Amino acid sequence: MQLVAGVWGFKTLAIGVEFGLFTRLAGGRTITVTEAAAEFGMDERPADLLLAASASLGLLEKAGAGYRNSELAEQFLVEGQPYYFGAQIRYSDLRTYLPWHRIGEALRGNHPLTWDPQQQESMFDTTDPKMVAEFWDAMFSTSRFTARALADAYDFGTHRRLLDVGGGAGAFPIELCQRLPQLQATILDLPHVCARAEERIAEAGLTGRIGAVPGDFLADPSLPDGHDVILLSMILHDWDEATNRALLARCHAALPSDGAIIISELLLNDERTGPPEAALMGMNMLVETEGGKNYSGAEYVTWLGDAGFVDARVVAFDAPGANGAVVARRP
Ligand SMILES: C[S@@+](CC[C@H](N)C(=O)[O-])C[C@H]1O[C@@H](n2cnc3c(N)ncnc32)[C@H](O)[C@@H]1O
Repeated sequence: MQLVAGVWGFKTLAIGVEFGLFTRLAGGRTITVTEAAAEFGMDERPADLLLAASASLGLLEKAGAGYRNSELAEQFLVEGQPYYFGAQIRYSDLRTYLPWHRIGEALRGNHPLTWDPQQQESMFDTTDPKMVAEFWDAMFSTSRFTARALADAYDFGTHRRLLDVGGGAGAFPIELCQRLPQLQATILDLPHVCARAEERIAEAGLTGRIGAVPGDFLADPSLPDGHDVILLSMILHDWDEATNRALLARCHAALPSDGAIIISELLLNDERTGPPEAALMGMNMLVETEGGKNYSGAEYVTWLGDAGFVDARVVAFDAPGANGAVVARRP
């Protein structure tokens, strides 16, 4: 029954975000059923149900006769907070939720549901304006927190220059450069994404330390050099094994001796039985990509070894966009 109610829980969360419920309750404000009904233009019955359901999910808590944000909602669901997660919720709701309803079609046809490969070159191009408006904000809101967890779990102490391959709007470089004063970073991403990254970098006051270089990590003759650590966050799960092996070889070529590579992903266990967040993200890759899937730590270790890297190991952590990183170095 918990699985049956998955859709109910997600839609309760998503409508709370869409209504701005948690943002309106920022800073400890409480709201009664009668007040919520008036504020959101609802009858008292639906207002009562929404507040009770939100509390049952740990998003609100009871305060006297009313409800207020839980700590979780205050940190992650109030717009403007550094680790605001609402953009991911909005993206999933608008872009992937209805296509998931046709999952049987994707399973039988082995093709994505959120975009048409006959009409678009890749899911990341500029064909779909809704995608361009929502996706990189969604990734940013997921990856800001993942970057924090990675920085807690992995020692960046000796690294000076990071290349974030497919770095999106810059969540990792921004979080990492704010924490690590010795670090400078380059984002390599598609031209229209670099423009978004530059805005975020400027907002964070890091324009001098983080650059955005437009390019194509699959087609350009080589990756930018001059970096001692390369990050691939939620990149390899978008592509098939052959593409990933080729990309790892290009990363190897772009690094100096002793340079490090970090693959941050929701990793399947080696038996391929879970955890659910990795296995279900794999199903989501069926919905969203042509050849992507979530891979195990053991698979990445093998590919890294074949590409010439050594000392590959898994560093575990807990975050929305990754449950660990596979790290290795060029000898
Ligand atoms: C799933 S997102 C991950 C973003 C970021 N690494 C993170 O974890 O938040 C994949 C990223 O790869 C970029 N990308 C896809 N194909 C690319 C290509 N051929 N060359 C450069 N960037 C590409 C996309 O624009 C997008 O920013």
